[in-house]
Amino acid sequence: MNAALRAIVRSGVYRGFEIYGVRDGYTGLMAGELARLGPREVGGIIGRAGTFLGTTRCEELRTDSGQATAIQQLRAHGISELIVIGGNGSQAGALALARRGARVLGVASTIDNDLPGIDVTLGSTTALEVALEAIDRLRETASSHKRAFLVEVMGRNCGYLALMAGIAGGAEAIVVPEVPHTPEAIADEIRSAYGLGKSHAIVVVAEGAEHNAASLSRYFDEHAQRLGFELRVTKLGHTQRGGAPCVVDRMIATQLGAAAVEHLEAGRHGLLLGMVNGQISAIDLALLNESRKPLDTGLVSLARVLAR
Ligand code: F6P
Repeated sequence: MNAALRAIVRSGVYRGFEIYGVRDGYTGLMAGELARLGPREVGGIIGRAGTFLGTTRCEELRTDSGQATAIQQLRAHGISELIVIGGNGSQAGALALARRGARVLGVASTIDNDLPGIDVTLGSTTALEVALEAIDRLRETASSHKRAFLVEVMGRNCGYLALMAGIAGGAEAIVVPEVPHTPEAIADEIRSAYGLGKSHAIVVVAEGAEHNAASLSRYFDEHAQRLGFELRVTKLGHTQRGGAPCVVDRMIATQLGAAAVEHLEAGRHGLLLGMVNGQISAIDLALLNESRKPLDTGLVSLARVLAR
């Protein structure tokens, strides 16, 4: 998000816009917490995770009165266009404000990579790098001790992070919300990994899966004797969100930020900007409400083949 902010401010000022940053997301917008930003205010942030402006989860923006207050604040501060950098919740807010007449553009940014119509969101590649580093380390220990490890990654209700980290990390089993599974089937996959002569088994599970780390760890503890092996559990949690952005994220953040300014300059709004087929693209913000992003079923099948 910082890299995108830097690009918005610098290319915005270059194109003659006055740019204001909103502190703490929609909560700050409703409270009128705006600060003028120039090129120097965004110096030294391209390599930092998160957003220097701060952010919040804001339930109030879901309400009529919250949205009306936000619109009022935009008018009171003479803000003619708004760029919203964020994931599902933020973009749902952007759509609500657009429907109330605000000129809004979204920039697709979430580690979950769950925005329909967008291939890769800001932050998801860095989050994957963090998860992969952890999986690689765990595999070293797993191999030395011939152990089974379960790693839970974030992603809310979407299995993207688990699927990608699982494939790239060489997991023996991957558990995602989009594919039905049972603890017993996961146990079979671990057993078959040992049967195939492997010295370890890594299971990558998405936090949103029906059987996530908590549920599987309970099951494997209860059945340890019958199953013949233990499952050591690591929940990566918020560590996946604090990684210094990788080069891919810095580049797409920079290009998306600059593109957002260009779109607004050309009078285009009501859109969500993100990467589609490797290109900076704009889709209708309203598309977010219409579908859930599907998981790549080809990759799900490939993961099974590669785990052998
Ligand atoms: O949407 C990003 C995300 O990191 C999810 O992967 C995770 O479920 C959630 O946010 C955690 O949210 P919070 O930090 O508010 O607990």
